[in-house]
Amino acid sequence: MIYHDTLEFANDLDAQDELKNFRNEFLFPQHDGKDAIYLCGNSLGLQPKSVQQYVQAQLSNWQEHGVEGWFHPEAKWLEYHLQLKEPLSKILGAKTEEITVMNSLTVNLHLLLVSFYKPINNKYKILMEGGAFPSDQYAIESQVKFHGFDPKDAIIEVFPREGEYTLRTEDILSAIENNADELALVMFSGLNYYTGQVFDMKAIAGQHLCLCPQCTKLLHHAFVKRTACPRDPKPQCKDCPTHCYAKVYREQIREVMRFSGMRLLLRGRIDYLFHLFF
Ligand SMILES: Cc1ncc(COP(=O)(O)O)c(C=O)c1O
Repeated sequence: MIYHDTLEFANDLDAQDELKNFRNEFLFPQHDGKDAIYLCGNSLGLQPKSVQQYVQAQLSNWQEHGVEGWFHPEAKWLEYHLQLKEPLSKILGAKTEEITVMNSLTVNLHLLLVSFYKPINNKYKILMEGGAFPSDQYAIESQVKFHGFDPKDAIIEVFPREGEYTLRTEDILSAIENNADELALVMFSGLNYYTGQVFDMKAIAGQHLCLCPQCTKLLHHAFVKRTACPRDPKPQCKDCPTHCYAKVYREQIREVMRFSGMRLLLRGRIDYLFHLFF
């Protein structure tokens, strides 16, 4: 499609937009007596017209049932999160059993960092987008301090080039590459709240291991299986009496584990290997 910087072209695209009727489902702040032109959907979106009725229904449940609202058939707060799994799985592209709804974003970020930020020796730095949402910055700062590091030294922020407003993927990738020996974690939001820039997460996530998509999938599968191995001590997969995966995959998985294990070793991630093998 060739874009034209004209009102006519914009109106034409609006007319073809299959989702255009959803505009009527939202409440617009008023500006000079007219609906405001609202471009902040990447941060706090507009209020859907239906929200008030749903919130009011729960306030009424609370009013009528008090603490029994947790179990009362009209409210069922105890099972509320289960209702959200199915619709969220479609939005997130995840399986329903992989989803749970809990906490605020910052609390979840801390929980993720507890699992994934494992600084060791000289690998303790976190690389992130410059100008991330303030609470994201504070969460990272808290985690770094919690592990005894100085945020000024341990947090590497990548900013747009002078005169530019968004980050170039190539700059993010080279920042990861240039700091690889000291990095323990790379943290990027999928979308910057302020500029609306969508980051190429596939490229960013793939930067640390040069694996093709098929091998990445196999490796991930092997990691999950290996971590969940119920045997104690965990035997070498080749000596295991009950194999986790079909014979046809065994040689491929062995190869991808050998390759990535070597890279983890070279990058100083002995802790990951220890976690996987013992
Ligand atoms: C982009 C972004 N990050 C983080 C937060 C913080 O979320 P929470 O208050 O759930 O921790 C918000 C909240 O508006 C947000 O918009």
